[in-house]
Amino acid sequence: MTAFGVDFGTTNSLAAMIVGDHAVSLVDTTNNLPHPSVIWYRGMEVVVGREARQNMDITEAGAPPGFVRSPKTTLGREGPIFVDGRTIDPRDAVAEVLKHLRTDAALPRDDSAGQQIDRAVMTIPVNFTGKERRSLREAARKAGVGVVQFVHEPVAALYAYLRSQPDTSHELAHLEGRTVLVFDWGGGTLDLTLCRIQAGTIMQVDNLGDNEVGGDRFDNTLRNLVRTKHATMHQIEDVMGLEQPGMAAKLLHECERAKIKLSARNTADDIVFIRNFLRAEGPVQTLNCTM
Ligand SMILES: Nc1ncnc2c1ncn2[C@@H]1O[C@H](COP(=O)(O)OP(=O)(O)OP(=O)(O)O)[C@@H](O)[C@H]1O
Ligand SMILES: [Mg+2]
Repeated sequence: MTAFGVDFGTTNSLAAMIVGDHAVSLVDTTNNLPHPSVIWYRGMEVVVGREARQNMDITEAGAPPGFVRSPKTTLGREGPIFVDGRTIDPRDAVAEVLKHLRTDAALPRDDSAGQQIDRAVMTIPVNFTGKERRSLREAARKAGVGVVQFVHEPVAALYAYLRSQPDTSHELAHLEGRTVLVFDWGGGTLDLTLCRIQAGTIMQVDNLGDNEVGGDRFDNTLRNLVRTKHATMHQIEDVMGLEQPGMAAKLLHECERAKIKLSARNTADDIVFIRNFLRAEGPVQTLNCTM
């Protein structure tokens, strides 16, 4: 029986399997990337992953309504998510992402047949509460996936690192008796796990999770910064009140793009530029902000 792993991330999700002695990532068959954790409720249809993410980005006027981004962050919440006039149970939204992973895994790949994921080990942030675990287990069940076990995300990262080494046993022997601090910095959380390698196994010594500094937070903070800069430059009091429909989402995406660009060592600045940003006359309607 094949063992599967599922990393349901705030921003991106991925399933993987062990073949022989190595792990194979079941990336999106069309672009070899992880699947964006984005759901688009388009009328009666549900579009998930890459296609949803692309549509969230494209239109000049901003994204059409009906999108759920970062559904993982809703698992601990009381009550439904409100999407374009509908109410959706967070577990149903998450189930859509997991179903999508499952459907994509079932497609044949270059080097392997399609895979049927019925049971999987799933990764979770270190500070996931009992409610969040129960909700995730329930969402997985709705998607047809039984959760074999939960594993903390940094532990999975360390395990993946060890497996990816040319000689895993040698690397394990090298780390024997040592303490390792593993970072998993994602869109939702920064997770840290202190591990000790003992008798060739990974022991978790301590965990720390921080929900305040996930990548999503950076995007939000940058969006506030851009709005403030635009307001100051044009002496406007209420930028948000003047924004064209859909601009909040579009600006957030532009800020994420700029953030990623600025994280490159050789990039000192970048421009966030959006036409028809505000309902106003003259230059103020165009956003042109140097970051
Ligand atoms: N080059 C980069 N520089 C800075 N941030 C980046 C870069 N590339 C991706 N990111 C950010 O990393 C985050 C996505 O990372 P990742 O896919 O590991 O998260 P995730 O697994 O979905 O989230 P989590 O583990 O918190 O649930 C996003 O916020 C994205 O903007
Ligand atoms: Mg992650």
